[in-house]
Amino acid sequence: MDQVAKRVPIVYNNVMGYESTVTSPVNIAVVKYWGKRNSELILPTNSSLSCTLSQDHLNTKTSIRASPSYTSDRLWLNGFEEDLYASARLTNCIRELRRLRKEKENELSSSDLASPENLEAAEHHVPPLSEWCIHVASENNFPTAAGLASSASGYAALVQALSNLYDLSISLTQLSMIARLGSGSACRSVYGGFVEWQAGILPSGEDSYAVSVAPETHWPTLQALILVVSDKKKSTPSTSGMSTTVKTSELFPIRISEVVPKRIIQMKEAILQRDFTKFALLTMKESNQFHAVCLDTYPPIFYMNDISRAIIKLVDLFNSQVDEITKKPKGIRVAYTFDAGPNAVIYAEKDVIKEFIELVMYFFPRGTGQTSNSFFPDPFGLLKS
Ligand code: DP6
Repeated sequence: MDQVAKRVPIVYNNVMGYESTVTSPVNIAVVKYWGKRNSELILPTNSSLSCTLSQDHLNTKTSIRASPSYTSDRLWLNGFEEDLYASARLTNCIRELRRLRKEKENELSSSDLASPENLEAAEHHVPPLSEWCIHVASENNFPTAAGLASSASGYAALVQALSNLYDLSISLTQLSMIARLGSGSACRSVYGGFVEWQAGILPSGEDSYAVSVAPETHWPTLQALILVVSDKKKSTPSTSGMSTTVKTSELFPIRISEVVPKRIIQMKEAILQRDFTKFALLTMKESNQFHAVCLDTYPPIFYMNDISRAIIKLVDLFNSQVDEITKKPKGIRVAYTFDAGPNAVIYAEKDVIKEFIELVMYFFPRGTGQTSNSFFPDPFGLLKS
């Protein structure tokens, strides 16, 4: 998370206030979170593991202002005003941070009556900061709700910006737990690099938060490429989709009890050893199983489309190549993963990405946006089902 500044004083209607701005990156799961055991506290059925992408590319930038002259809490998303109170998750996050601010004010007023904040408040006859209304403005630099983890970066930015605004000195663990109340995957965006969300077992959720597996510097050559197949809003939101899966899929209990626990261990090993082949195979099998439980849900959920499936074939083709001179297989050099939408995230080592992009550009020329075979050269039948 990139903090432009902890918080800065502002003046609005001749009254002093504060502003804080934070930019947060998206994260893309390689072991997927899909299923809740408690939907109010957002406690998952399984642990998950993700890579936080560099925030120079996909990110959410959130600015929050607080002023004693504001008369209501307000929210603007991508430039349009939305009803902040329409989202229980948003209000839960804000309520929790306000509670922590109130706690701090109580401590301050009992221990340090001469603190600058107390003196300032007394001088201007204004209520304490925890009682001021806030204005939140949040912008994604990528399609919102198209299965590109916008809620993850969104809630991570919100909780960090509000925590800064309230001048709270809380740990990343606590921040991760508050972000989790907004959206499960958001708890992982609090950290950079490789991150595990430990599901925990306590009903209170006190042990359900993200931890760092390795920083981004651990594997600097690993790159992610996003192939935007569609920027439309997904037809089945993650929240309702995973709830139907938990209720109806017969494959799901096996995934939770037998597959995911092993995969978390294996994936951590692959990351720590920087073993791309192992990482790639696990990532692709995990994406396949996630979409298999979606298909096993009733009514079935389809997140991938024909183009998504063509991308899987293209990756498979790329990974099946044989070296012309040695005649040996070049091996697994690229991995795909799909979240709750048709867009692909490709993981590859830096020296391979360019070669793969050239292949993608050949099969999917920019700007056609068509799925018909007549628009593409399709010598390998990638677009045929
Ligand atoms: C497929 O975090 O969006 O991207 O907790 O209901 O807000 P809520 O769901 P959300 O689900 C993300 C699902 C996923 C997999 C993942 O990121 O682990």
